[in-house]
Amino acid sequence: MSEKVLQYDKPSLQGTLTIPGDKSVSHRSVMFGAIATGKTTVDGFLLGEDCLSTIDCFRKLGVKIDVEGTNVSIDSPGIDGWQEPTEVLYTGNSGTTTRLMLGILAGSTVHSVMIGDASIGKRPMRRVIDPLRQMGAHITGRADGQYTPLAIQGTTLQAIDYHMPVASAQVKSAILLAGLRAEGTTIVRETEVSRDHTERMLRQFGAQVDEVDGVISFKGGQTLTGTHVSVPGDISSAAFFLVAGAICEKSKIMLKNVGINPTRDGIIEVLQNMGATMTLMPYEDSQSEPTATITIETSTLKGTTIEGDIIPRLIDEIPILALLATQANGKTIIKDAEELKVKETDRITAVVDELKKLGASIEATEDGMIIEGPTPLRGAGLKTYGDHRIGMMGAVAALITDGAVILDDAECIAVSYPSFFEHIEEVK
Ligand code: S3P
Repeated sequence: MSEKVLQYDKPSLQGTLTIPGDKSVSHRSVMFGAIATGKTTVDGFLLGEDCLSTIDCFRKLGVKIDVEGTNVSIDSPGIDGWQEPTEVLYTGNSGTTTRLMLGILAGSTVHSVMIGDASIGKRPMRRVIDPLRQMGAHITGRADGQYTPLAIQGTTLQAIDYHMPVASAQVKSAILLAGLRAEGTTIVRETEVSRDHTERMLRQFGAQVDEVDGVISFKGGQTLTGTHVSVPGDISSAAFFLVAGAICEKSKIMLKNVGINPTRDGIIEVLQNMGATMTLMPYEDSQSEPTATITIETSTLKGTTIEGDIIPRLIDEIPILALLATQANGKTIIKDAEELKVKETDRITAVVDELKKLGASIEATEDGMIIEGPTPLRGAGLKTYGDHRIGMMGAVAALITDGAVILDDAECIAVSYPSFFEHIEEVK
């Protein structure tokens, strides 16, 4: 843990940033490349700690992975050619690695043991393991599989028809990845649509996936063939600069390479509803994931209500949207977001407690928070709880505070955005 003192003296932000690769897509590019037979090449890969954990796990399964800058190449014998790992697979802070790998390993031919860091050790795994067990998976773990460490004995699986109790792309993806190895057609029914990177990438690797009105069906036994993946920039990382551009005085910044997948773009809708001065220019040549350049400038904002089916489309952006709401006129209500409690930390408690220290008028509710704005913010010592997005929320707040913000641990930001502080320096 290293403390970081942030004294920015209210800069006006100017300039252009290229947003680094999407975390969700980067994970999946390596996972799919490892399951597929042959060579997969990736450009724009995110060199964040979470994605490096995914690479490390697959290397332990005998998959050859080379990293050169943000280009990654994966040379795999295919899932049936993996070696049984002699070491524990370490998933670090990454929920996506842990949960998606459960689905992949359940239908593999190897035995494996998985463990992550202290935060992963507190996050619920039964939401994935319950449906996987219904498919015939052999998984054991602490508290009957609720928590890591987990042991997985790969086996033959049966397809499932599963009604998602929560909107979670990690749960959906784990089931679909297990479904790839299952006998029969796996069906996943979503009431609220979660991010669809897995479905898109399955198609990119040559599989057929059907989706009609939130019902995804996918025939088991399909094989994946290595291909090229271009990773778009991560809208969840861009979010911090979208908000910074809107709340800092006399600012105008251009963000290039922002992924605008419609299952991820809730923050754009919210910024528009709040009155942000923003323009979006989609790229013509985007591949399987749509991408755009977004320009944002200092904005006069009004409070809003964020609820219902937009929540899964901006779940990771809620900490930074809460900061945005402290600078908007009137009340912002965030509800239907109880999933925040089971992220890298309890993000309802963390956001409310830390923004209060800066002087915000914010109260926690059972499923979200209520923020009254605008309030001037003051410097303070903040906890990040080892959560990258809480850390970046604090750092963006430091751009508008009177006095310094001191983060107790800024290292966690490297989980998803290793160049975050360099990017602040570039535009401030
Ligand atoms: C992710 C899904 C979301 C998100 C996480 C990444 C993914 O989690 O919060 O950061 O890559 O599938 P849930 O599936 O738990 O909602």
